[in-house]
Amino acid sequence: MYSRKIDNYWSFKTADTKEFTHCYHNYPAMMIPQVARQLFEDYAPKGKLELVLDPYVGSGTTLVESSIKGIKSIGTDLNPLARFMSKVKNTHFNIDLINDGIAAIITGIIIYNPAEVINTDFTRISNYLFWYKEQDLYKLSYLNQLISELNPLIQDFFLLCLSETVREVSFTRNGEFKRYKMSEKQLEKFNPDVFNIFERKVQRNIKGLEAFNTTGTENLASVYDFNTSNGIPSEVIEKDSVDMVITSPPYGDSHTTVAYGQFSRWANEWFGFDNAKIIDRLLMGGVISKEIKFSTNSINSELENIKKLDEKRFYEVVSFLNDYWDSIKNVAKVVRKGGRACYVVGNRRVKNIQINLDYFTAEMFEKCGFRHEITIIREIPNKRMPSKNSPTNKIGEKVTTMNNEYIVIMTKL
Ligand SMILES: C[S@@+](CC[C@H](N)C(=O)[O-])C[C@H]1O[C@@H](n2cnc3c(N)ncnc32)[C@H](O)[C@@H]1O
Repeated sequence: MYSRKIDNYWSFKTADTKEFTHCYHNYPAMMIPQVARQLFEDYAPKGKLELVLDPYVGSGTTLVESSIKGIKSIGTDLNPLARFMSKVKNTHFNIDLINDGIAAIITGIIIYNPAEVINTDFTRISNYLFWYKEQDLYKLSYLNQLISELNPLIQDFFLLCLSETVREVSFTRNGEFKRYKMSEKQLEKFNPDVFNIFERKVQRNIKGLEAFNTTGTENLASVYDFNTSNGIPSEVIEKDSVDMVITSPPYGDSHTTVAYGQFSRWANEWFGFDNAKIIDRLLMGGVISKEIKFSTNSINSELENIKKLDEKRFYEVVSFLNDYWDSIKNVAKVVRKGGRACYVVGNRRVKNIQINLDYFTAEMFEKCGFRHEITIIREIPNKRMPSKNSPTNKIGEKVTTMNNEYIVIMTKL
């Protein structure tokens, strides 16, 4: 059908996936930078390579790799935390200003007095006393206060460090993307040192920034919030202008696969970002529809089999694929002739039936005037998502859903 090759070189088993600003912030289902890097190496389109697009930007891996290569890039995501992260990771902050900033923050921490915390209204955070110790909320708020007193040019760098801290000192369980509270036993032992956690993140990210700053000075990446399923604004990206798309779309809707919104809710609520509580509903497949907008040969029998077993699950899958198909149509229009689209996808199982999203991706792009070149299968030892997750959403219930990912490479004719 659409030719696949297994290539273990692409596993990058021993590679450092946290170089440069890739170390800044955790995010579910991050793509590893080596994949983007190797795609530039092996599958850059013929002719110019001046504009890269990532329609599901997430933590901004593709954008960082484009910046490092000196290429302009555009990314979009409906999750404000993803956008914030991508923006900060692609900014060449002045290292001297950053060092002054951390020195000022450390001085502030030394004289910390809870009575001097200005903002002690935490009502923007749902159920805040269920998720945090009050004393830790005060410390987080104090860090926010110290950051707000810094030079505005560098505040975002520190706010991103705070974002990870906000999640880490909450009572959410380690290693889960969903909002599961720690057990009573874990809570008894849980005593996070808020300031220390924050400082360690700052030190780690300064190292990343120093490395990133050796690669250039210009900020080459732009981050937007448009939904490619609805359209791509022509004032942002002109038709036939993108040389290369490098992206990893979700594998399915956020409710039954990776809960991007739940993972991000800590920071989205803390910073008062838009739609903090409803992100998962906005993402592809977030709204269930009974209409089928696409026609497929490549995964038709799988979909029929799922329908026979469970109609509700069938429409969940279809709703995701509808949005994905709409997005592909819009992305296809902005790629130039000879341009490349590289989609890194996962083939999840629903009702124990594998949905070959790599075939579906190739087939839909073909309908939009692309030729499928090859699909590379790689193992995902480094991927920042559990190789096991619970499709039934029950705490503790784990079923293996994915071990490989599929890099689908297509050229616009
Ligand atoms: C697999 S993640 C991308 C990970 C990214 N490659 C990285 O390295 O971090 C998929 C992203 O798609 C976003 N997303 C889902 N539906 C979207 C839509 N309709 N428009 C834009 N982004 C969407 C999610 O918020 C999530 O950040």
